[in-house]
Amino acid sequence: MSDTTQSKKDLEVKIADLEAQLKESQKRIRILNIIGEVDRSLTLELNLDPLLHKILAGAVKVTDASAGSLLLLDEINDELVFAVVEGGGGDSLQGTRIASDKGIAGWVATNRQPLIVDDVNKDNRYYHSIAANFDFKLTSLICVPMISRNKLIGVLQVMQNTPGCYFGTVEQELLNSFASKAAISIENARLYKRLKEERDKLVIVEDEVRKRLARDLHDGPTQFVAAMIMNLDFIKELIARAPEYAPDEIEKTVALARKTLKQLRTLLFNLRPVILETQGLIPALEVYTERLRETDKLKVHLNVKQEFARLSSRAEIATFAVIQEAVNNAKKYARTSDIKITIQPDEEKDLLTVLITDNGKGFDVQAVRKQYDKRGSLGMINMQERIEAINGRLKIQSEIGQGTEVSFTLPLHENLLENTKEL
Ligand SMILES: Nc1ncnc2c1ncn2[C@@H]1O[C@H](COP(=O)(O)OP(=O)(O)OP(=O)(O)O)[C@@H](O)[C@H]1O
Ligand SMILES: [Mg+2]
Repeated sequence: MSDTTQSKKDLEVKIADLEAQLKESQKRIRILNIIGEVDRSLTLELNLDPLLHKILAGAVKVTDASAGSLLLLDEINDELVFAVVEGGGGDSLQGTRIASDKGIAGWVATNRQPLIVDDVNKDNRYYHSIAANFDFKLTSLICVPMISRNKLIGVLQVMQNTPGCYFGTVEQELLNSFASKAAISIENARLYKRLKEERDKLVIVEDEVRKRLARDLHDGPTQFVAAMIMNLDFIKELIARAPEYAPDEIEKTVALARKTLKQLRTLLFNLRPVILETQGLIPALEVYTERLRETDKLKVHLNVKQEFARLSSRAEIATFAVIQEAVNNAKKYARTSDIKITIQPDEEKDLLTVLITDNGKGFDVQAVRKQYDKRGSLGMINMQERIEAINGRLKIQSEIGQGTEVSFTLPLHENLLENTKEL
């Protein structure tokens, strides 16, 4: 071979090499652009469903895959759930659940490590019965864990269906770093969703309180004030025509005014018992039960088994509110006038137990819980949430004809005022 032919050949090899390098860097630029684009849209997306779709679409695009799926971990049932599927007959897989250690996805979730499989049919981790629902001749895949703050959120997987078309470590790295960002976005979206739900609930509770106040003002003090005006008009006439009867009528009206004042004070107390903040739970409960005896003619027994130090204001407000709700329910539904409130601290077990019992008509707790969504009531859910917020446990036991017992326990030590930052 002549020198010129040789150098021409060398040149051709060099050009081919440079062309390959150019192609590779063009591919990288394209991928970086896609990542940047997807990153921006993930940061902006706070709604969970569209976010999950964007994550999977981004993952498929970044890795140049033909299909993909995103599985979320359901911690309660210890399962992975197909949340979004792209490509193949994906829709039929959506919502499918697998044990969190089954299949390739389960292996990745358990080991929290990314995995490339060149031929799934040769991998005994491959979950064939799930694949049967997926109209996609899967050959190779990459599956990576989605982890945020050391917590597994789910797994992300992308696939190819062309024989001989494999993923490389570059794609695995890309998908891995993409999955970490996606996990954070999912956590943010979940927090945002919870925040929105809490806010909605707050609006409903506020509205409920306002309605109740309006009803109480209407049924009580407003009626009494109307009666007082009528009495005063009558007294005016009596003074002109038969003044000797006026003192008696004035006395009746003063009694009515006193009753109204008492009712208004009870309403104010129920809205915000100042004594709870100044003197604490037990004095507030003493005043509360005293008012119930006087105003509602109820036989309410308050039994504090043993003295204990003051609780944090969070714990005192929650405890008082739950007792109020349980008593209100007993007043409204139990058809009894006997209600017992028992407070029992146990320092050895580090527990404060509170029981509110009535000997009234009772109810089917399971049946009420089952159709709670449709009822539009909030009492039982509020009690539960308030107690859980201070790390306690609430139990409602009732039987038709046997009365009702609402009970809860709180960890005593951590809820004491002296152990909180409120001091
Ligand atoms: N002590 C009780 N005795 C008999 N039935 C009860 C008792 N407590 C609750 N219930 C039943 O359980 C249902 C649910 O109570 P819950 O407090 O959740 O709702 P509500 O009192 O109807 O509404 P809200 O508390 O939101 O004003 C009541 O409607 C009632 O039928
Ligand atoms: Mg209620």
